[in-house]
Amino acid sequence: MKTALITGVTGQDGSYLAELLIQKGYEVHGMIRRSSSFNTSRIDHLYNDPNVLHSKLFLHYGDMTDSSNLNRILDRVKPDEIYNLAAQSHVKVSFEVPEYTAEVDGLGTLRILDAMKETQVGAKFYQASTSELFGKVQEVPQIETTPFYPRSPYAVAKLFSYWTVVNYREAYNLFACNGILFNHESPRRGGTFVTRKITQAVVRIMRGGQSTPIKLGNINSQRDWGYAPEYVEGMWRVLQSASPSDYLLATNETHTVREFIEQAFAYFGENIYWEGVDESEKGFLRSNSQLVVEIDPYYYRPTEVDLLVGDYSKAKRELGWEPKVKFDELVSIMVRADLENYENQNEKH
Ligand code: NAP
Ligand code: GDD
Repeated sequence: MKTALITGVTGQDGSYLAELLIQKGYEVHGMIRRSSSFNTSRIDHLYNDPNVLHSKLFLHYGDMTDSSNLNRILDRVKPDEIYNLAAQSHVKVSFEVPEYTAEVDGLGTLRILDAMKETQVGAKFYQASTSELFGKVQEVPQIETTPFYPRSPYAVAKLFSYWTVVNYREAYNLFACNGILFNHESPRRGGTFVTRKITQAVVRIMRGGQSTPIKLGNINSQRDWGYAPEYVEGMWRVLQSASPSDYLLATNETHTVREFIEQAFAYFGENIYWEGVDESEKGFLRSNSQLVVEIDPYYYRPTEVDLLVGDYSKAKRELGWEPKVKFDELVSIMVRADLENYENQNEKH
């Protein structure tokens, strides 16, 4: 039985990865943060399963800012594979907490890699690198060799981690890999990221639970959105490769935030028409002219990433990885799940 350590196990990706690895027969150890309220909702179904807790899943308190504790966890768990997913992962928030973001998303990676080197634990290491590294894109579509141009404290911190992984691989011969993942979403996506913010609000609006419009920032930015469960499978494949390398996972399709909004309303058979420009732009339901989208400059970023689209040919060729869920299906999966949640909650009340 292989043993895996997942930092960020309570996050969107960590929860799907824990499920996947348990299914594959791994003993999974997850690092969680102490918090004043429960932060394990995404893994509660595993945690509450008596066949899983303390036999297939083990949780350890820890924090990416605390080296001594990372050392202790590595020493105790002696993992075969480490998936470093923990991060302050919100790009806009990183402009407000840049130093903390650098501590966790940059130095945190160095702390684990150095603990691996010092404890000689011999694990394979996966780093959650990101398409945000490409930032002000130098090439379309982006591939593994496209030059980086980060545009936020988050991306700059992740750039430090990216190169630390490469350096520890070359300097100390560690099996350390970057997965450069483009945006991936799911019904478990945090509610402050644009896709989930939209799907939750669209459901409330269409079911009469919200009469105010959705307030959004830049709806013209373009993203390459995939489906998170497929991307965590890609993470696992990265660590099963014959030799350590860096891989880009994406769908090779790009869509605007505006299209995401339109597609989410289309789930309910509604069309949107737009009036005004820039901060004055508004979206209305074609059926009854209800105002449903408004621009709020609060959500603008000091520097934006305008366009992301990734070519995943290397992952397809070397790992046999290919995404199946594309844009329309992804939006449907997310809206359907939020609709079910909404109806279940309303039944309870
Ligand atoms: P997420 O849902 O925000 O989860 C982040 C996880 O990190 C949570 O478990 C969080 O714990 C934990 N964490 C945050 N700060 C920590 C700290 N100081 N010490 C220990 N744990 C900490 O993010 P995600 O979408 O699953 O993404 C996973 C990773 O992939 C992140 O590194 C992200 O930057 C990267 N990434 C994501 C995408 C994407 O589209 N989702 C694309 C490329 C790269 P709490 O639950 O306690 O907050
Ligand atoms: N969050 C948010 N909220 N974004 C908005 C909003 C809003 O109200 N309105 C417009 N946007 C735009 C953002 O300006 C950005 O261009 C786009 O929607 C996507 O924003 P997010 O969903 O916050 O994701 P992200 O692309 O910035 O970052 C995510 O993907 C990265 C991979 O490219 C995160 O998961 C990062 O952790 C990840 O590295």
